[in-house]
This record gives sequence, structure tokens and C-alpha cells, in this order.
Amino acid sequence: MSQYKGEIVPAEGKLGILLVGLGAVSTTFIAGVEAIRRGVSQPIGSLTQMGTIRLGKRTENRVPKIKEFISLAELDDLVFGAWDIFDENAYEAGLDAGVLEKDLLNQVSEPLSSLKPMKAVFDNRYVKRLHGTNVKSGKNKMDLAEQLMEDISEFKSANGCDRLVMVWAASTEIFLEESDEHRSIEAFEKALYDDSEAIAPSMIYAYAAIKSGVPFANGAPNLTVDIPALTELADQYGVPICGKDFKTGQTLMKTIIAPGLKSRMLGLAGWYSTNILGNRDGEVLDDPESFKTKEESKLSVLEQILQPDVYPDLYDGFSHVVRINYYPPRGDNKEGWDNIDIFGWLGYPMQIKIDFLCRDSILAAPLCLDLALFLDLAKRAGMKGVQEWLSFYFKSPQTAPGLYPEHDIFIQLKKLKNTLRYLKGEELITHLGIEYYDD
Ligand SMILES: NC(=O)c1ccc[n+]([C@@H]2O[C@H](COP(=O)([O-])OP(=O)(O)OC[C@H]3O[C@@H](n4cnc5c(N)ncnc54)[C@H](O)[C@@H]3O)[C@@H](O)[C@H]2O)c1
Repeated sequence: MSQYKGEIVPAEGKLGILLVGLGAVSTTFIAGVEAIRRGVSQPIGSLTQMGTIRLGKRTENRVPKIKEFISLAELDDLVFGAWDIFDENAYEAGLDAGVLEKDLLNQVSEPLSSLKPMKAVFDNRYVKRLHGTNVKSGKNKMDLAEQLMEDISEFKSANGCDRLVMVWAASTEIFLEESDEHRSIEAFEKALYDDSEAIAPSMIYAYAAIKSGVPFANGAPNLTVDIPALTELADQYGVPICGKDFKTGQTLMKTIIAPGLKSRMLGLAGWYSTNILGNRDGEVLDDPESFKTKEESKLSVLEQILQPDVYPDLYDGFSHVVRINYYPPRGDNKEGWDNIDIFGWLGYPMQIKIDFLCRDSILAAPLCLDLALFLDLAKRAGMKGVQEWLSFYFKSPQTAPGLYPEHDIFIQLKKLKNTLRYLKGEELITHLGIEYYDD
């Protein structure tokens, strides 16, 4: 944040949102924005559109909407582009995803039908369950990155965009750990030329975005932009980045409930989470290597929120199990069950059961919108590198090296709103409130 220079370039002109992956989340997002623009629906779930921000003292009654407080791109100024390994347009992909009703999709069929995905950078070794043909070929991974950079610049001029952002909403790739190829820009670029296996397609998109000066958000749990080579590149190019893995469904619930249990010093013996889903995401996650990427992301939250090292009597050695079961009949309408074994006064055990009949893409779409608008704001405010203030949106928030991520959703929201206040030179809110009782 020390990078902030105190000026925000106004959000004038068109903002292009480039989506990697034109599946359930992306089509629900685009169709939703088109429906909202036409007054058919409301932007429910979006903080940028519906949220407010308190300014100054409680007695001042200054509570504007966030979008009126700070300069954000208007929905009417958004233009969408996408890459996918299947060549269906956004209308067909939306029908296939089966999230939104046909009636609603038909009302926005015109802009959706005209959105045809660009050829993807894809390699079946990183997403084993999918086979598509709308895929680029190139002599090495650097060549593919250059082709993406061309796509980006052509999209920008063809659509008359002033600014762009990129969001990864493509399938979850197999689990990769940071390796030497990821540790410096030089090593990463050499690995691109050498076609190294350490470089996943998502990293090629992120590299192309950053080199093109385009902010990048990672909605999946892949390592992608969470490697020193790309965080350094983002700093060097003055590009904001953030990730990983949209916080929706079960993990959203976890980061709402766990801080509450801890605030009352209630102990936890175990938390068992399982869910069924039947969309393409579920099919991809049915592959153990993609599931491992997701599992790592989902498991990290409780440990950090509950701090067993600080509260060993309450949280030492609790059992945490996460399962995802691919079950086609449910489509995108996931059902998540949680069994939470807690204990209270004198160690007496209690149980909490959650049965969340959620809709994955309905929860994820507004996050895409907010992330695109806030990343664009960050760029216009001259912020660069990892944007930890956007951790509110992620299951595994990216942080500066050596910092543990903050998972508590209430702290994340305070951090986000205080960042907005900071950008506008407003007083930060500590909730101390002692001044109301001064004589
Ligand atoms: N929906 C949620 O609540 C949620 C929450 C957290 C994370 N996510 C993640 O968001 C991503 C998208 O979810 P979804 O439900 O839309 O999945 P989806 O399977 O419907 O869509 C993903 C699309 O990405 C495409 N794709 C795969 N690899 C690609 C590549 N290299 N380049 C371009 N396109 C590629 C696929 O063909 C597919 O159309 C997944 O990784 C998922 O794990 C979703």
C-alpha cells in the first residue's frame, strides 16, 4: 500500500473483462450483468453494486454506496471477451451450463450469442478430464504467451477499450508446487522457451496479462500467479494481481462460522465437510490431481482462523475432512453438508449440522464482477503486485511473502473497506468509539 500516490484516475471509457474459461461461472456472470443492465434483475451478492460504506463518526450519518463513494467502472461500460477450449458461444455455453433458466438467457441472447471464445492455451496433462479442439498451437510456451498478448491487444482495439482486466474462471488444474522455474522472472521465461512442465497454462495467461499491463485475478485454486516470478513481474509492470479460488459455498460458511465460535472461546473437536455437485467443475474435480489442488485450498482456512498454536486447549489436533463427490443429477446446484463437533463449558460436547443447498455459479458470479471492478480501481490508483485487501473474495488469499493469510471474513471485509477509505483519504474506522463517551 505504500505504493499509493494519492490519485485515482477516473473510470472513463470502456473496461474490457477478459475471462479465461467460458463455463458456468463466466456465463452466469456475463448473462447476469446483461440482465442487470436491462433492468431485468438486481446485482444481488455484489458488494460494489449494493454495498455501502460508513464514513466518519456514527453521528455523521455518512453512509454512501461504495460505487458512489469511489470511482468504479459502470456496468454499461463493460465489454466481455473469453477464451475456451470449446468453441460454443456464450449463449450456447450458458444453456449447457444449466445454471440460468432458458427464459432469462433468451432475454440476453443477443450479446451472449455474439461472444465467441478465442482459441485457448490448453494442455490436457493439467486438466485430465477435458478434451477440446478450440486450442492454440505454438512452437513453445513463450510462443503461446505471445499469441495471448496479441489476442489481448486485438480485443482492446477491436472493442475500443480504455482498460482491461483478466479473470481466470477456467477449470482447476492439477496440483503443482513452487519449483525453481517459478522463483525468478529469468527462470520463468527460460522455462517458457524450454516448454517446461512446471509451467501450467494458467501461468501462461497470467504472464501474458501482466506483460500487457492487465490486472489478473485467479478464481481457481491453481498456483498460477502465486509464484515469485509472477509477483515480481507484476511489481515491475505496475500490475495488480490477486487470488486464489473464489470463496463461495462451504468455505464461505466456514469463514463465517469459525470466527464466531472462536470469538466465544468454544472448542472444536472436528469439522467434516462433504458435498455433491454435478457440473463440469465437479467432473474436473473428480480427477484426484485436480481435487488435490482444491483440497489444499479448502483445508487451509480453519487452521488459520482458529490458531491452535495460540489456543491449544480449544483447537489442538481438531480433525478437518473435506470431500467433493461428483454427482451429475445435481448439476450446478450443489448440496454441502457440514458436521461440526464443538465443545463448551467443562468440555461438554455439542454438534452443529449445516445443509447448504447452494448454487455455485450464482454465488461466484458477483465475485467476478467485484474483482474485475476493484482490480481496475487498484490499477487506476497506481497499486501494484498482490492486492491482499481483496482476500475477502478468496479461499486461499495471496499475501506478501512471509505473511500468513487472513481468512476471517469479517476482518477481510474491514480490510477491504478501510482500503477504500484510505484511497479516498477518509479516516480509517477502528470501532473503538470511546470518543462518544468523552465529557
Ligand atoms: N462456482 C464456484 O462457486 C467456484 C468457487 C471457487 C472456484 N471455482 C472455480 O472456478 C472455475 C470455473 O468454474 P465453473 O463452474 O465455471 O467450471 P466450468 O467447468 O463450467 O467452466 C470452466 C471452463 O474452462 C474451460 N477451460 C479449461 N481449461 C481452459 C484453458 N486452459 N483455457 C481456456 N478455457 C479453459 C473449460 O472448457 C470450461 O468451459 C473452476 O476452476 C472452479 O473450481 C468456482
